[in-house]
Amino acid sequence: MSEVHVYPVPAEFASNAHINEQQYHAMYQQSVENPDQFWAEQAEQFLSWDQRWSKVSEYDFIKGEAAWFIDGKLNLTYNCIDRHLETRGDQTAIIWEGDDPADAKTISYRELHQQVCKLANVLKQRGVKKGDRVCIYIPMVVEAAYAMLACARIGAIHSVVFGGFSPEALKDRILNSDCQTLITADEGVRGGKSVPLKANADLALESCPNVHTVVTVQRTGGDIAWTEGRDIWYHEAVAEASDQCEPELMDAEDPLFILYTSGSTGQPKGVLHSTAGYLLQAAMTFKYTFDYQEGDIYWCTADVGWITGHSYSLYGPLANGATTLLFEGVPTYPDAARCWEICDKHQVNIFYTAPTAIRALMGVGDEFVTRTSRSSIKLLGTVGEPINPEAWEWYHRVVGEARCPIVDTWWQTETGAHMLTPLPGATALKPGSATRPFFGVQPILLDNDGNEITGAGEGNLAIKASWPSQIRSVYGDHQRMIDTYFSTYKGYYFTGDGARRDEDGYYWITGRVDDVLNVSGHRMGTAEVESALVLHDDVAEAAVVGYPHDIKGQGIYAYVTLMAGHQPSDQLLAELIQMCVQEIGPIAKPDLIQWAPGLPKTRSGKIMRRILRKVAANELELGDTSTLADPSVVDQLIENRLNK
Ligand code: WT7
Repeated sequence: MSEVHVYPVPAEFASNAHINEQQYHAMYQQSVENPDQFWAEQAEQFLSWDQRWSKVSEYDFIKGEAAWFIDGKLNLTYNCIDRHLETRGDQTAIIWEGDDPADAKTISYRELHQQVCKLANVLKQRGVKKGDRVCIYIPMVVEAAYAMLACARIGAIHSVVFGGFSPEALKDRILNSDCQTLITADEGVRGGKSVPLKANADLALESCPNVHTVVTVQRTGGDIAWTEGRDIWYHEAVAEASDQCEPELMDAEDPLFILYTSGSTGQPKGVLHSTAGYLLQAAMTFKYTFDYQEGDIYWCTADVGWITGHSYSLYGPLANGATTLLFEGVPTYPDAARCWEICDKHQVNIFYTAPTAIRALMGVGDEFVTRTSRSSIKLLGTVGEPINPEAWEWYHRVVGEARCPIVDTWWQTETGAHMLTPLPGATALKPGSATRPFFGVQPILLDNDGNEITGAGEGNLAIKASWPSQIRSVYGDHQRMIDTYFSTYKGYYFTGDGARRDEDGYYWITGRVDDVLNVSGHRMGTAEVESALVLHDDVAEAAVVGYPHDIKGQGIYAYVTLMAGHQPSDQLLAELIQMCVQEIGPIAKPDLIQWAPGLPKTRSGKIMRRILRKVAANELELGDTSTLADPSVVDQLIENRLNK
């Protein structure tokens, strides 16, 4: 191991932050020794309740069940909007920055309230009721926020599907949770190019007969098809709707949203989150991880199609009455200075993004950064994948001018909110480490036999006890919840990640230990890409693994065996890539496809992925290959490997 540079807490954070080192230890101690008392206090401080809970928590990690603030009643939008109106009605809730640098607008809390109420009334008029699922397939426009909040206003469960997903992927997600209403836009705009969202939605809906309403935001005015009776224009419908809508009284455990994410097998899972616990931890981590102070302008670059966009572009900031920036475009358009120009333009104080973006921007040179001021920024954050120390150092030194702490936040769609993270006033930083657990989070490292690793060491990362924003179920398939998270290590939540703990108790995430890839911070099951590839008639078999990629973190490496009599060709290569785009979306394009006459298998026919991963990484110390049915397959794979 190379020497780790430790960055102490800057003096102004040590004295002014919400949480300093002593407070962290005292509060952490309390949070794990007396969790119910701790979380009850937080729930009182952070949320406004219509009815108090009768019991703080109840959970069973064998059955994969958890409930928080039982019998408590509240509404998320009351907490994110209404309660701020008296004191900050005119304050900006959302700054929207368009793809085109000339497009920007601000939405006050009062306007947000009106817009959310109007759309909520439109949904009601279309028959949407508490518990109904509403799919949202939308670009980063303010209506994305209105749509999510309008659902929460009336107790409908939203399922946001990232606008980069294909019609096929959208269809699967609509059907899986039987969404009967869809909110979309005519087109999205990213990096100067348009994305045909309504056309994609129309294709998907050919197989979704239960969808009775499609609300379409007019973003570009581009040509789209129209289905009378089913399709309504967003702007026409809200124009006639009342801007008053009483918030639906929700149970703390009523479902708030579904968000699909990839696992190691089969179809994506609909991760189900409930209302109070989720909102509490999103709100609390927002305040403490980012050391949010009254008046700060905050920007998280994540799309609302991902959990980061849910918890940290919207719900966490709004629950705190903060100003959150939504950006429609991409970090490299019109050029690689865009993020820093946006920070200067809107005087952003807290900036949160993914390592893949940092690496991409680092690669094009410092001048794009240094030509901007960035003097408003006081804190930087990263999320989504391990950050390599070189990228961390660049982010710290060049972007943050060695002035801003970096919070490297480890969490998952399933955890709902930060789990391992520095707190800027409390935690000395080590580049590449997500440092220490957040309040109430009890990480544990286990070896492959399930034995606990104590002290410094490396193992599989699991969590010992429930936390408020934990996943409640896999939508429609609770058994899959148990199988995926609560079966590998009995009595623990298994994260799917490996981690190392150092002598200071700091955690270093080493990446997934299951067959899940992390491509540019996007999670993808190798099984999903394989399923797409084998749909092609010429393909007999496919095996997909990740390999180290300079910008994306992991690239997608596919080994493809063709049916007898079929020959590899550029045409076929293009068709296979198209297959992945069609089935999943552009994010699933394999970076490298190797034609493999045979795949390394055990005598029982199981593909030895360990070997495929090594070849893809160009690591040729393959270890024990004696269990292979046909060792000569490996020589051929090595000879024709594409990453040398
Ligand atoms: C997986 C979860 C959580 C929001 C975005 C991704 C990886 C996430 C970090 C980090 C190292 C990280 C893990 C995790 N991951 N944050 N700070 N350091 N790895 O959410 O799509 O649910 O993916 O992303 O492997 O399991 P997600």
